[in-house]
Amino acid sequence: MIQVRHVTKFYGKVKALQDVSLQVTTPEPVVILGPSGSGKSTLLRLIAGLEVPDAGEIRINGGLVSRPGWVLPPHLRNMGFVFQAPALWPHMTVEGNITFGMDGVSQDRLRGRLRELLDDFDLHGLGKRYPDELSGGEARRVAIARCLAPEPRYLLMDEPLTNLDRERKWRALERIAVAVRETGAFLVYVTHDPEEARKLSRRVIFLDSGRIVEAAPGKESPLP
Ligand SMILES: Nc1ncnc2c1ncn2[C@@H]1O[C@H](COP(=O)(O)OP(=O)(O)OP(=O)(O)O)[C@@H](O)[C@H]1O
Ligand SMILES: [Mg+2]
Repeated sequence: MIQVRHVTKFYGKVKALQDVSLQVTTPEPVVILGPSGSGKSTLLRLIAGLEVPDAGEIRINGGLVSRPGWVLPPHLRNMGFVFQAPALWPHMTVEGNITFGMDGVSQDRLRGRLRELLDDFDLHGLGKRYPDELSGGEARRVAIARCLAPEPRYLLMDEPLTNLDRERKWRALERIAVAVRETGAFLVYVTHDPEEARKLSRRVIFLDSGRIVEAAPGKESPLP
């Protein structure tokens, strides 16, 4: 469970988020939808522990992970993250990137999982390439595979399907949805595309100018 309570975030004088509350209580994806600059990435980065809130708090599974002046570091949150820019490790191949977070997994399992993910995200033949040898869309798909590989409890994805053609986009979205269903992970998914939002979930939260303006009725309601 993820609880965001009355969170406000400034960058200097820019108020990026204002009194935002939401909770993710069941493993059905929650989509954050909103125009450019509305605070979507800021909200995700706060949940990931990459930003410190100026007011409010964030709890994961009931435990406090963020408050003004203190955050539990991202690597201690059991979260997988797809950043808005793919941010692959430049010195590692595609295979190295995908298996990076899979510590303690047997070689057999690791190879099996890698094959599965290369297949799911249409990356066959690219395993030995380095990130600077990939197209924008391929790098995206590697970033998604890398995020899913260790089967984290929580998944945060920031416009992960940018740069994909329609067919690949819907296929990748389907693979993400299946992975979430199979593992029971909690997914918070950012997009500015209403069609993508609708396809993934009925639990859509709208952000505008740093505020939640509407949550789909009866689906995901902001905390009081
Ligand atoms: N590091 C930063 N320093 C200063 N201002 C920032 C910083 N990051 C974001 N902002 C500002 O905070 C606001 C929210 O930005 P954010 O990146 O969260 O928006 P977004 O909804 O993700 O937009 P997009 O759809 O373009 O990715 C914007 O006004 C942005 O200019
Ligand atoms: Mg963004």
